[in-house]
Amino acid sequence: MKRRDFLKTSLAGAALMGGGGALLAGESSPITYPLKVQPARYGLMPGKITEGMVSTFADAPPPVIRLKQGVPAVLSVENAMEEYTAMHWHGLRIPNAMDGVPYLTQFPIGPGEAFQYEFTPPDAGTYWYHPHCMTMTQMALGLTGVMVVEEAEDPGFDSEEVLNLRDFRLNDDGQFIDLYTGRGAARGGTHGTVMAVNWQDVQRADHGAGSLVRLRVAATDTTRIYKLYFEGADGKIIAWDGHPVDYPVPYPTSPDAPLLLSPGQRMDVALRMPSLEGQEVKLMARVPGGTREMAVLRAVGADAGRALAEIAPLPRNPLAEPDLTNPRVEEFVFGWSPEGDLPNNGFCGTLGYTFWSINRNPWAGDAAEGIGPLVTLNMGESVVLRLRNESPNLHPIHLHGLTFRPIRSNKREVIPNMTDTALLLKDEVLDIALVADNPGNWAFHCHVIEHQKTGLAGYIEVV
Ligand code: C2O
Ligand code: CU
Ligand code: CU
Repeated sequence: MKRRDFLKTSLAGAALMGGGGALLAGESSPITYPLKVQPARYGLMPGKITEGMVSTFADAPPPVIRLKQGVPAVLSVENAMEEYTAMHWHGLRIPNAMDGVPYLTQFPIGPGEAFQYEFTPPDAGTYWYHPHCMTMTQMALGLTGVMVVEEAEDPGFDSEEVLNLRDFRLNDDGQFIDLYTGRGAARGGTHGTVMAVNWQDVQRADHGAGSLVRLRVAATDTTRIYKLYFEGADGKIIAWDGHPVDYPVPYPTSPDAPLLLSPGQRMDVALRMPSLEGQEVKLMARVPGGTREMAVLRAVGADAGRALAEIAPLPRNPLAEPDLTNPRVEEFVFGWSPEGDLPNNGFCGTLGYTFWSINRNPWAGDAAEGIGPLVTLNMGESVVLRLRNESPNLHPIHLHGLTFRPIRSNKREVIPNMTDTALLLKDEVLDIALVADNPGNWAFHCHVIEHQKTGLAGYIEVV
């Protein structure tokens, strides 16, 4: 799509919305965030300044954006880079034109240009944001941030801790090395050399002894599947990928049975701090050859005496329940396809390889002309998408704009909580069910960015 066509479509859209997103009288005033995408430098490793990063500040990580369910938001993205960008709000069910996918929903934002994203988040929960143009480099160089959408009513925690888990690929001097490799892209992806939490080695914080903490954990890495567990406290997983859990997710306490959080996924955990001052709660990760601290929360002050049972279940988000009596079934095969032309991503960057495919077709690129949807769904229709992994690698499969339930697998017992990203295991056939209730063209891809950018991508149309 050309820039001209976008102008036409957005004018048509504005007419439909009755005023281009203008606020109606009586609505609360919008929450605004300026986000200036720009070069950055930061001390990621002790005593070393990493140059050549990308953030929304010159010397700090991208902020935790805090929005409110049902309250309009205005996010003004200004591009101060010498390359294109576009910002995507991962997990949010918002109008297609605000989804931030280059050529599919908007023209990419050029150097010196700005784009104002306006939407009202329908769901509360933990989400995140990242560029969808120059995705591989801008994400790897730092631009991944957490977005919190607060419930209309406060659920009653004493405090909160937000953890943005991601790696960086640095040498011993703290400077970037190759952000991706052909070898990695063709296999499980290229891992970082330095694991980080909120752009530091470990997140350390004090919380009241015996108090209730809401931990929001987001896996924003381009590649790593985190294997997480807790030490030192009782806890409860209260939300998964943004939405309050309908089916319990076991609270992991052992490195032998960790919880997998794959790229794009989030979890909200209610933690009860220990009663004695100085005692610690740890979020741990299993890593090759051992384990690693990700966050250490220390109890301070007198025992607040609270109990996990005091947390009422989070209010459900307004999600439509798929009707499984006689659903339409659509199959997608994810596999390796080293043949194929190089993708045409226009202004949005290419890795220079084609390795992956959906239904044996590698994605022709964001800017390729005349590429149709993988499937067209009708508004309001319930559908089962059968995700078949024909590769030995794991793929966190992500769908924009819609929310689905994983319902069955040939490999394991699935926990059918609502999500936007599901980890597809080796040789797995996973059925996911959804209601096609948001019109537009919705990107559908693997969230290992090297897989996405070398073919494992497409889109689903809802009309
Ligand atoms: Cu989080 Cu299409 O991405
Ligand atoms: Cu997304
Ligand atoms: Cu993948």
